[in-house]
Amino acid sequence: MRAIAVSEYGATPALTNLPRPEPGPGEILVRMVAAGLNPLDWKIADGMLKDSVDVPFPLILGRDGAGVVDEVGEGVTRLRHGEQVYGVFSHPERGLGSYAEYAIARDDGPVAKMPDGMIYTQAAAVPTASATALALVDEARVDTGQTVLVVGATGGVGQSAVQLASRAGAKVIATARDDMAGTMRLLGADETVDHSRGDLNGQVLAVHSEGIDAVLDMVSDATAAEHIAQLLRPGGTYISTVHSVNPDAMEARELRGVNYEGEPTAALLERLSDLIDAGALRVHLEREVPLAEAADALAANRAGGARGKTVIRI
Ligand SMILES: NC(=O)c1ccc[n+]([C@@H]2O[C@H](COP(=O)([O-])OP(=O)(O)OC[C@H]3O[C@@H](n4cnc5c(N)ncnc54)[C@H](OP(=O)(O)O)[C@@H]3O)[C@@H](O)[C@H]2O)c1
Repeated sequence: MRAIAVSEYGATPALTNLPRPEPGPGEILVRMVAAGLNPLDWKIADGMLKDSVDVPFPLILGRDGAGVVDEVGEGVTRLRHGEQVYGVFSHPERGLGSYAEYAIARDDGPVAKMPDGMIYTQAAAVPTASATALALVDEARVDTGQTVLVVGATGGVGQSAVQLASRAGAKVIATARDDMAGTMRLLGADETVDHSRGDLNGQVLAVHSEGIDAVLDMVSDATAAEHIAQLLRPGGTYISTVHSVNPDAMEARELRGVNYEGEPTAALLERLSDLIDAGALRVHLEREVPLAEAADALAANRAGGARGKTVIRI
């Protein structure tokens, strides 16, 4: 089968011919139609897992995807042959990922029936980014009347976080350069602040001199996060998806700091399917590329400036 793989950490991802994987007990084999690109994909290609997982090479890249169940292994009870599914198809310890014609998922793992009426390319864009956003909004206990700042709001996780925090009843402030301010408002942001203009805290405090309740941060390093946390009222919550929070230092300031590290689950995907079916969550595709152009798409994502999700057509 055709797949995008790296021959070693740091190598350029290349279109490669590899054996089709066999589903083991409790596993499904999915004929992939589309794969969703996440920053984690190039971070893993760069060696993010090298101290924690023994990875064989070539390593097929990618986590997210959508396709049709082609074979079911022994003991599979939930998903059926021919079903349209989406989710996470990542098994780096076996060299397997979603940028391939066939991928493996566990029947009891992070995979679910595709939302009704959704096409494969849209569904492939959902799992990691939107499940993370849903988990962040849960973890921050976002509620009616709160003010929530989303930092990195224009990216894959951020666009879903803005919609879900707004739906939870919060007043949402989204970071956005000029070109994205209107989109952020359409997604549910009440206000935008432009991080490229500097003095983010000053822009927020100009409207919210009393401070805010929560920060959902997808991009800031530890120094920037420490500074942005000054916006929080006592009892406020700061969640980072890039490990920039020092929970002890936050606690000393009567704040709750969380470094979110989570995997999508079937339960989160099913909640996302319901939200999508109800028209309460939309995922914007910025770019669709054929499998052969996956390496360029990964390089573009690494360079920054994402305006939505990138999807790879298999
Ligand atoms: N811990 C976990 O479980 C978990 C799960 C999912 C994702 N993540 C991580 O979360 C991060 C975000 O993921 P993603 O998929 O949303 O990325 P993405 O789609 O590439 O989007 C990143 C967005 O952040 C914006 N941005 C960059 N610097 C900024 C700044 N200083 N202030 C405000 N916005 C800024 C970018 O726009 P501009 O460049 O135009 O500013 C871009 O729109 C990645 O590092 C990813 O690996 C972690």
